[in-house]
Amino acid sequence: MTDTTAALGAAEPVTPEFPLARKCPYQMPPGYEGLRERGPLSNVSLWDGRRAWLVTGNAEGRELFPDPRLSSDVLNPAFPLLAPRIAAQREQQMAPPLVGVDDPVHARQRKMVIPGFGSRRVNALRSEIQRIADGLIDNMLSAGDSADLLSSYALPLPSAVVCALLGVPYEERSYFEERSRHVLSSAGPDQAELAERSFTEILRYLHDLIGRKENEPGEGLLDDLTAQQLAEGTVNRDELAMIAALLLVSGHETTSNMIALSTMALLDHPDQLAVLRADPSLWPGAVDELMRFTSIGDTLVRLAIEDIEIAGQVIEAGDAVVLSTMLMNRDPSSWEKPDELDIRRAAGRHVAFGYGIHQCIGQNLARAEMEIALSTLFARMPRIRLAVPAERIPVNAAYVLQGVSELPVTW
Ligand code: HEM
Repeated sequence: MTDTTAALGAAEPVTPEFPLARKCPYQMPPGYEGLRERGPLSNVSLWDGRRAWLVTGNAEGRELFPDPRLSSDVLNPAFPLLAPRIAAQREQQMAPPLVGVDDPVHARQRKMVIPGFGSRRVNALRSEIQRIADGLIDNMLSAGDSADLLSSYALPLPSAVVCALLGVPYEERSYFEERSRHVLSSAGPDQAELAERSFTEILRYLHDLIGRKENEPGEGLLDDLTAQQLAEGTVNRDELAMIAALLLVSGHETTSNMIALSTMALLDHPDQLAVLRADPSLWPGAVDELMRFTSIGDTLVRLAIEDIEIAGQVIEAGDAVVLSTMLMNRDPSSWEKPDELDIRRAAGRHVAFGYGIHQCIGQNLARAEMEIALSTLFARMPRIRLAVPAERIPVNAAYVLQGVSELPVTW
C-alpha cells in the first residue's frame, strides 16, 4: 500500500492502491485486512491514478450487484480499467458479450445461452465428467509417481467438459487450450497483445467451426444455437462466434484454477481434508466453501451511470466501482471466522460466482466439475501431496482471475 496523495505530513487521507497481488494463490493478498478495516465502501486508486469505490461489505455488494445504475458496458469510454491491457481491448472495440454489455443486449444474449446450462443438462453430463476424471487419473497413475496437476488434470478436465457441452471437437484442443490461458491469465501490459491475438485466433477458429456445423449439425449447445438462433436471424455469425468464444474461454480457465487452488488449500488444511475423506457426502458443501475461501474472480468492475446513495455515501454518476468478491466473502458481519476454511460451513450465500444479472451462467456446471474432480482426485490418490514447498508455486498474478501456472504434485 502506498500513499498516492503524496502529501507528506498533510492531513489528507491515504488512498490505497488497488488491485493488490496475492502472495499465496488462494489467500487474501497482504493489505486486504487494512482495506477491510476501512469499512464496506472506501476509496482506492487504480493503476492509471483514477479513484474508485471499493466495495468490501457483503450486504452493500448484494445491494449494488443487481442495481441497473451500475453498468458493465466496457466499451463506454468512461468505463474503469483495472489493468492496462483492457485499454487495448477497448481500442479494438471488442466488447465481450454477456459479461461486458448491459441490458437489453445482455438479456437477449443470456436468454439465448441459458438453456444450455440448466441443472438437467448439467446432471446429464455428470457421468461424462466422472469418466473424464477417471481417465485422466489413470493416465497420471500409469505415467509415474509425480506430475503437474494443472496440465495433467485441472486444465484438461474442464476443457473436455466444456467441449462436450458446446460441441467443440476435443481433438482440436491444442488450438484453443493454450490460447484460452493467454486470454484470461496474462496480466502485464506487454502481454496485452498476446491476449488479444489469442482471442482473435479463437474467434477465427469458432467462425470456421460454426460454418462446419451449418453443413453437419451435431449435438452441442453451439449446434443448437447455429441451427436455431443463427438460422432464424436472432443472432449473426460474428456475435455467435463471440458468445461461443466467451463460453469456451470461461469454461477453461475458471474451473481449472479452482481445481488447482482447492487442491492446494485442502492439502494445506489436512484436518478439513480428513473430514471430507471420512464423509464424502460433504463434498457439495465443501465446494461452495472453497469457492468462498479462494474467491478466484475477485475484482468485478462497474461504472456508475447515475448517483447511488449507499452506506452513508454517494457514488456519483461517472464513478468507478470495484466489487471485491474476496472481501465480500470474508466480511465478518456476514461470516463467522471468515478467514478460516471450514468445509462444514453453510457457504452457499457466497458471491464468488458474482450476483445479480451477470451471475455466472456456468455455476451449476462448475460446481459439478469441482465436486467430481476433487472427490475423485483425493479418493484415487490417497497419498497425494505437493512436490515442492507451497511458497515455490508461482502465483499467476493476473488481474481477472487468480491461479497458478503449474502445480507439481507427487503421490
Ligand atoms: C469455478 C469456476 C467459475 C468461476 C469462479 C466463475 C466466476 C464468474 C463470475 C464472478 C462472474 C460474474 C462476472 C461479473 O459480474 O462481472 C461470472 C460470469 C460468467 N461466467 Fe463464470 N465462473 C466459473 C465458471 C464458469 C463456466 C464453467 C462457464 C461456462 C462454460 C462460465 C461462464 C460465465 C459467463 C458466460 C458469465 C457472464 C454471465 C453474464 O454476464 O450474464 N463460468 N463467472
